[in-house]
Amino acid sequence: MTDNTYYEKLINAADLTSAAPVSEPDRQYYFIKKARAQVKEYAVRIGHQPSVCVTTFGCQMNARDSEKLRGILEEIGFTSVDTEDADMVIYNTCTVRENANVKVYGRLGGLNSLKRQNPNKIIGLCGCMMQDPQVVDKIRKEFRFVNLIFGTHNIYMLAELVSEVLARPSEMIIDIQEKTDAIVEDLPVDRKYSFKSGVNIMYGCNNFCSYCIVPYVRGRERSRDPEEIVCEIRKLVADGVREVMLLGQNVNSYGKTLPEPVSFAQLLHKVCAIEGLDRVRFMTSHPKDLSDELIEAMASEPKLCGHLHLPLQSGSSRLLKVMNRRYTKESYLALVDRIRAAVPDISLTTDIIVGFPGETEEDFQDTLDVVRKVRYDSAFTFIYSKRHGTPAAVMEDQVPDDVIQDRFDRLLKIVQEIGRERTARFEGQTKDVLIEHINEKDPSLVTGRMDNNAVVHVKGDASLIGQIVPVHLDSCRGFYYYGTIQK
Ligand code: SAH
Ligand code: SF4
Ligand code: F3S
Repeated sequence: MTDNTYYEKLINAADLTSAAPVSEPDRQYYFIKKARAQVKEYAVRIGHQPSVCVTTFGCQMNARDSEKLRGILEEIGFTSVDTEDADMVIYNTCTVRENANVKVYGRLGGLNSLKRQNPNKIIGLCGCMMQDPQVVDKIRKEFRFVNLIFGTHNIYMLAELVSEVLARPSEMIIDIQEKTDAIVEDLPVDRKYSFKSGVNIMYGCNNFCSYCIVPYVRGRERSRDPEEIVCEIRKLVADGVREVMLLGQNVNSYGKTLPEPVSFAQLLHKVCAIEGLDRVRFMTSHPKDLSDELIEAMASEPKLCGHLHLPLQSGSSRLLKVMNRRYTKESYLALVDRIRAAVPDISLTTDIIVGFPGETEEDFQDTLDVVRKVRYDSAFTFIYSKRHGTPAAVMEDQVPDDVIQDRFDRLLKIVQEIGRERTARFEGQTKDVLIEHINEKDPSLVTGRMDNNAVVHVKGDASLIGQIVPVHLDSCRGFYYYGTIQK
């Protein structure tokens, strides 16, 4: 869904008879116009309007980036589809754990056979995995059928890159920028949902947790101007959006590097003041930077959803230090107490890594202890994955696989037991639910989310999608509810 008239004017204003502008995003409006003409020629060659499939791996940042990629591609004449037999396929990759890489290499094999059937097919790779020079080397050598590789810092250049690919279809175009200070916005976006949207408030990460590759592939922390964020959300609301998710690797450090520093809590107050917006979420909060000002905002702003994702990673103060997380078991638990005192009903969720180098049974018991004390609504549990170039990759005492698996299984069991109990705590109450889609398994049901992010299924049809309705929560089935809409 793109706001066509707004961008149409900007794109039409580009003058293809002169050289491409240097400043962004004007340069990209020029290349959108240029690529449109090239796509028309490509359509004649293949005998139909070309289709594109953008496949997303990884987190919400990547999902949002994919919406931007789709927005640009649709603007230049591709029709967006969900199947990889499309004329163009783009993989927006993740590299946070090794299995994310393995998945992409596996699926590239499938794309190769599709390309043999359709030699005009265009294959592009972008996202976090491509910021690793070893990956690009491997693709260059082993996956020679790939047409385009670009990284996380230049997705806004997609029109320019596609224009190059269409001009030189037999070559592999590679454009990776090692780092950037630039933030380029104001390009077309194709939102997956009409009624909710992610909004980037910052890019990159400066924390360098010792296991994590994200700072290396996403670059240094850059905050967007608060007025630009508010302006983008106002436009989204005018276009039907009721819920936004503010996105950043560590939203709690938002605004610290702006010429006129603004705190994340101040930004939230500005966003919550936007008329017509009903719900505000954010992701991810680093415990070390979660301020009392933010806790106050959560307690006082009714639009802020009753959900906080607060990654723990480990409950052992000793390991947290080696992980460079800059909080302790005790300070984390104290923080949770302060949050719960201010917002008693809040749903807390978390990320936990099992098997970080040197993790002992005692360390692991500390993690279990925090899980039992905090009682998360849900937790993403990950087996530690060695990422080359990170400090943890060369640490001694890597934990044997069987020990990790055993701990992982024990953790998951407890996380799930507690999660079930916590999720069920609203049974019998009536809560507002934003209806998101028709239920995949039973088309007589629609599925939505409460403000604490819990999933609810109710009888209903497509006319309810995008509406916030009061629902009586009849019964909880593990991690979701069945409910009835209250008239
Ligand atoms: N910025 C967010 C996390 C982004 S990555 C934060 O700081 O919380 C999402 C999650 O992936 C992390 O919270 C962590 O639990 C997990 N993760 C990151 N690197 C990992 C690794 N090397 N092995 C296993 N899990 C990892
Ligand atoms: Fe990775 Fe830590 Fe940054 Fe999160 S805060 S992205 S875990 S380095
Ligand atoms: Fe993956 Fe990149 Fe997100 S590595 S988790 S897609 S920031």
